[in-house]
Amino acid sequence: MKEVVVSGIRPTGKLHLGNFFGAFKNFLTLQEQYDSYFFIADYHSLTTHPTPGDLKGSVKRVLAEYIALGLDPEKCTIYLQSDVPQTAELYLFLNMNAYLGELERVTSFKEKARTQPNNINAGLLTYPVLMAADILLHRGVKVPVGKDQEQHLEMSRTFANRFNRLYNCDFFPEPQAVSLGDNLVKVPGLTDSGKMSKSAGEADTIYLNEEASVLNKKIMRAVTDSGPAEAGAPRSSAVQNLFDLMALVSSPETIEFFDNQHKAGGIRYGDFKKQLATDMELFIAPLREKIDAMLGNEKLLDEIAAFGAEKARKNAQETMRQVRDIIGFSNKY
Ligand code: ADP
Ligand code: TRP
Repeated sequence: MKEVVVSGIRPTGKLHLGNFFGAFKNFLTLQEQYDSYFFIADYHSLTTHPTPGDLKGSVKRVLAEYIALGLDPEKCTIYLQSDVPQTAELYLFLNMNAYLGELERVTSFKEKARTQPNNINAGLLTYPVLMAADILLHRGVKVPVGKDQEQHLEMSRTFANRFNRLYNCDFFPEPQAVSLGDNLVKVPGLTDSGKMSKSAGEADTIYLNEEASVLNKKIMRAVTDSGPAEAGAPRSSAVQNLFDLMALVSSPETIEFFDNQHKAGGIRYGDFKKQLATDMELFIAPLREKIDAMLGNEKLLDEIAAFGAEKARKNAQETMRQVRDIIGFSNKY
């Protein structure tokens, strides 16, 4: 039997190049090797009280993007969290053994409580419990997450062990982070602000469905040095960023050509960026087409979501049958 991988995807905005190379590509590898469950964490997103329209729109977008980019419903189980209400039942059970003190100490909770003092709701406090329910529902053992989620994952282990100890069983495995360290790519942004991020603003980010003209403008406006570098001068961080982006989408010959120009002095950044914009458009165009086509195909999206929900629920029902049995609830009526 293949090991179970579980990962939640927050429905936040459009995917950018950083999300694609940094996180999404790993999903494509995982779906080949594991029994993987990828779900859209729409319960989690209620902590911020989205309107029904906004929630629907962002869930649809993320589903369309992940499918368009290559998550294959035949190879993995992709579903909406809210289509599997067993998640909420397990969340309730786990909450009975999650303690206020430990929840209040979670870094992400403390951060949220500081930045949004007017909305410190119980859902925020118990966010790690819901995340544990997501994972334990499928008895997941591997979870592909970044550094920011490690504390949450540690709590999933705590809740799994606590349940096992309380009921004197060995039911839930301890979920571990999948180490993505070796193939983690850090994609820089266009404004020399560090890594590409939605929060660094529109000019920093290249979205995967970026229109050709917008893409061209963004790249041509990217920061470089004021004049051509002198021969042998090291690359400035802004110029290094553009070389890093080029490494993702251009041919080795192209990269070598501009590298040589930079080393020899006299590189023309206008030409360099024009080339980057051309190669980026060649990379983005097919992705943009696939994403747009998927967004326009509501029927297919519905079918995929229904298919995934069915598979996920089946597994979840079996887990919950056993959990209810362990706890001492009747499964009879
Ligand atoms: P943003 O910073 O734009 O809000 P998110 O925090 O939503 O991005 O990132 C979602 C996932 O994409 C995370 O797993 C994160 O590690 C990855 N990711 C985001 N930006 C980058 C980047 N510039 N380079 C590599 N990975 C990234
Ligand atoms: N908390 C995760 C994030 O912010 C999303 C998430 C929810 C998740 N449930 C999960 C990730 C279960 C992995 C496993 O990115």
